Amino acid sequence: MTASITEVNPIIWKEDRVLLIDQTRLPAEYTVVEICDYQSMANAIKTMIVRGAPAIGVSAAYGLYLGARELQTNDRTEFLNQLENIAEILRSTRPTAVNLFWAITRMMNTARSTIGPVEHLKNVLLETAKIIHAEDLQTCKDIGEHGLKALPQIPDKLRILTHCNAGALATAGYGTAVGVIRSAWSAGRLARVYADETRPRLQGAKLTAWECVQEGIPVTLISDNMAAHCMKQGLIDAVVVGADRITANGDAANKIGTYSLAIVAKAHKIPFFVAAPLSTIDFSLSDGSQIPIEERDPVEVYQVGDTRITPVGVEFYNPAFDVTPAELITGIITEFGTVAPGEIKQYQQKQAV
Ligand code: MRU
Repeated sequence: MTASITEVNPIIWKEDRVLLIDQTRLPAEYTVVEICDYQSMANAIKTMIVRGAPAIGVSAAYGLYLGARELQTNDRTEFLNQLENIAEILRSTRPTAVNLFWAITRMMNTARSTIGPVEHLKNVLLETAKIIHAEDLQTCKDIGEHGLKALPQIPDKLRILTHCNAGALATAGYGTAVGVIRSAWSAGRLARVYADETRPRLQGAKLTAWECVQEGIPVTLISDNMAAHCMKQGLIDAVVVGADRITANGDAANKIGTYSLAIVAKAHKIPFFVAAPLSTIDFSLSDGSQIPIEERDPVEVYQVGDTRITPVGVEFYNPAFDVTPAELITGIITEFGTVAPGEIKQYQQKQAV
């Protein structure tokens, strides 16, 4: 099945359940998974059926509601205690993308501050999850608009390099970094996307490339170690990536390989932008050294498909994210505008929690 990028809805609330596009099967298969309880949602986040920071946040919000509706008690205190246990299970799924924690905090704050019987609290939780979902879509469109203004003004159309997948699939449906790319494409300012394949999970090769093909955006796939060479050849005008957690000083955690991309962009005097909603900013952390970095199963490194690619006896290290220091980032593109990383704190009061 093919779908236009405008129709790529990785998360749908349908009547009484959540529908998720199974991102582990793309691009070979377009499969939709039905999620009816919080345990299945926790599993979907953990196994990356749904992935990408904002999409994880939206999914966790629905997951918390799915847990809430199963609770049998009518006692408010008991309900909130049991809900906190479910929140903790959802929080334990993935450690780096702060949108997960942000969405659960927002849901729990809503539950605690809502007056009325437990049934009413449950209804309000569902409405809040739907609001978080709808807001993310609008936020991404705003990021796209602001990003368009931030991109270099050159006579020719732009060639933009991106890493991992910060597209429709990683959000409620428009994308952060790919949202900027999409806006540039709609405005007639984009010549081509260069997509890093993004070892080891290959989100660039599998997901970003798929999204670009759906939209008819010209896309060239490169392996991660080709970026510097492409820059030296003059093929790249700007780099735009997403983020999983940005700290108060503007350091940004994103998919492993982003940091080296930022270094080579700086060496070639190519602007390097991070596109992310305020829900990705962790104002409680002063710098990127405090961000927990997820380590995933080594099988992602030593196996390609079903084939083991290394000899037995080799040891492995598989950090899923790295931190790009603020000084390597030209600008952070948010739904409120583009700022220098050191100025991100000015948006703290605007963050909904
Ligand atoms: O491990 P993943 O696929 O969840 O990692 C995703 C990324 O690193 C994205 O670049 C980031 O979440 C931004 S998504 C808009």
